[in-house]
Amino acid sequence: MDLQTLRDDLERLRERATAEFAAASDLAALDEREDAVLGRKGELTVVLRGIGALPPDERPRVGAIANEVRTALDAALAERRLALESSALTARIAAETIDVSGPGRRPPVGGLHPLVETSRAISRFFAGYGFVDYESPEVEDDLTNFQMLNIPLDHPARDLWDTLYVDIDGYLLRTHTSPGQIRVMHAEKPPIRALLPGRVFRYEATDASHQTEFFQTEGLMVDEGTTFGDLRGLLDQFVHAMFGSARRTRFRPGYYPFTEPSMAFDVECLVCGGTRCPACSQTGWMTILGGGMVHPVVLQYGGVDPERYQGFAFGMGVERIANLRHGVGDVRLYLDDDLRFLEQFR
Ligand code: PHE
Repeated sequence: MDLQTLRDDLERLRERATAEFAAASDLAALDEREDAVLGRKGELTVVLRGIGALPPDERPRVGAIANEVRTALDAALAERRLALESSALTARIAAETIDVSGPGRRPPVGGLHPLVETSRAISRFFAGYGFVDYESPEVEDDLTNFQMLNIPLDHPARDLWDTLYVDIDGYLLRTHTSPGQIRVMHAEKPPIRALLPGRVFRYEATDASHQTEFFQTEGLMVDEGTTFGDLRGLLDQFVHAMFGSARRTRFRPGYYPFTEPSMAFDVECLVCGGTRCPACSQTGWMTILGGGMVHPVVLQYGGVDPERYQGFAFGMGVERIANLRHGVGDVRLYLDDDLRFLEQFR
């Protein structure tokens, strides 16, 4: 091995490898060539092993040439790599065109539950008459759910509400939102205009119109000179706002221990318009709430002087209102959590 041979070998390697790099048809082929020429066991390394056989004073000169060759090969490699990469990118861009005229993908968004939406619509109507929303506990004591509403222990009127009890003595799941009347009267001084939307619980067999959990909105007004006529007028306005001004309504006598007189409030059947159909059990009417004038005993339990103040109260079934608004025939659908049902209300 002499200096000249080594120089020639290096020069040939440079020429051949430069041509090979330039000819590589894709990045994989280029990588393969790079490894074969410049890799740890590549051709350049093999040629340079010859340096050891040269006299020491000639070695630096070969080293300088080798560096030059290496730099030239690196440059050739980089140039080809850049060219291949940019043509790969161009090809990808051509293949992956984006159709900007196509419809966008709608991200999944939630919506209000129909009972929440209906409950809010009810609150919104009464807010226009100065009624303010209040909250009252779902786990209630017997005193507030029954006794202060004029339903003594062991009174037969308790049979009107099939009660779910909790493990704590004297406590139960509220059977209606009416105990909220007591709580509001304890918290506020008359004049009072309160609305109490919320979940209530009853121990009953489930069918298309009954569930063990459902929603009510309680209304309570306490003021001087409040009359049954005020209640009637307000509820008529409510029905006309919700279901149209042509809707007929009626009061029927009813019985609740905490109101006197008591009534049930009916709306002309929205399905048949009063000509009687299965939706209204052939009566022509649908009952949406119970109410009446707050019993003087209940006012007293609420800390309100019945000689000076009168009040009216009502308890509305939110599912009933939602059924009428949306034409739903089975209250069980509301709490089934079936998106096929719920998504229709978005
Ligand atoms: N709480 C009664 C019920 O659940 C409804 C009602 C409320 C009646 C207020 C009169 C006054 O059936």
